[in-house]
Amino acid sequence: MKVAVVGATGMVGRVMLKVLEERNFPVTELLPVASARSVGKEIDFKGKKYKVVSMEDAIAAAPELALFSAGGGTSKKYAPEFAAVGTTVVDNSSAWRMDPDKKLVVPEINKDVLGPDDKIIANPNCSTIQMVVALGPLHSKYNIMRLVISTYQSVSGTGKDAVNQMSQERSALPGEEVDMVYNYPIDMNCIPHCDIFLDNGYTKEEMKLVHETRKILGDDNIGITATAVRVPVIGGHSEAVNISFEKDFDIEEVKQLLSDAPGCVVQDDLANNVYPMPRYAHQKDEVFVGRIRRDESAANSLNLWIVSDNLRKGAATNAVQIAEHLVEAGLLKMVTA
Ligand code: A2P
Repeated sequence: MKVAVVGATGMVGRVMLKVLEERNFPVTELLPVASARSVGKEIDFKGKKYKVVSMEDAIAAAPELALFSAGGGTSKKYAPEFAAVGTTVVDNSSAWRMDPDKKLVVPEINKDVLGPDDKIIANPNCSTIQMVVALGPLHSKYNIMRLVISTYQSVSGTGKDAVNQMSQERSALPGEEVDMVYNYPIDMNCIPHCDIFLDNGYTKEEMKLVHETRKILGDDNIGITATAVRVPVIGGHSEAVNISFEKDFDIEEVKQLLSDAPGCVVQDDLANNVYPMPRYAHQKDEVFVGRIRRDESAANSLNLWIVSDNLRKGAATNAVQIAEHLVEAGLLKMVTA
């Protein structure tokens, strides 16, 4: 199958290529796309070299699938142009996520919402993906009423320029200039400011957690509030999540549900200091859950600590899993033609 990766030179795009390769996705022709300044550069994929092509050339080639991770503006403009030539787009930006006509998909939770007419499919925000993988089975069993979320998000979630900022800060000599992406130094710091501020005083990242979680779980009644914080970690997002359920639960049953949940791994052995950490979630596809404990201050309430690699399950792996489902369910152009 002909596959375009738009943003192939970026943080997420590179991981998309790696995940396509690792999972042996049936790519017969790769079309790596990046900005005009990268056209002609070479990209390695499955032992072959591919030249970065322009957006226009990729659209003209009418691939069966395009994985997008090149920012919201690029997706808004070009995803419909791919869709118009029959390409199915899986888009990692926030451009289409809350469009009522577009599906927002985490395969473990809601892949069955997809049908043959879905030509632009939205990949959720990284913080939302890892959270709903753990919450989905708990919501089905106990009905979530309210979520209070605090995130500890790594710099790779901002993109390659942010990773550069942190590494330059770490190696800069006193007085040496650093290329800043954030308003403040990120090393030895925590910045309670992910994405832009909105009129309600929350950041866009915080409101993505609110709206996207409701859309994926298919329940607009869940009360959700979030504080999203950037921390000096290169890769891997962590989240402290407080959950209030309608029904009471048995803590051992919660642990069992999480252990059985597809894509979820429980790491919770206090006697041996076992709990999830971003350093150890790195390069893995699973969502790790630990510190599973009852909130003793409120009825039917639970605390979880949820960690995952934001570039993999939080972005690239989830997008490739959506693509795999499209192939399996016969929803791509080549399969249905
Ligand atoms: P380039 O490397 O040529 O700038 P990140 O999120 O890590 O910063 O990466 C963004 C990705 O999106 C890069 O691959 C970047 O290409 C690509 N990109 C940015 N703007 C465009 C555009 N207008 N058209 C195509 N690709 C783009």
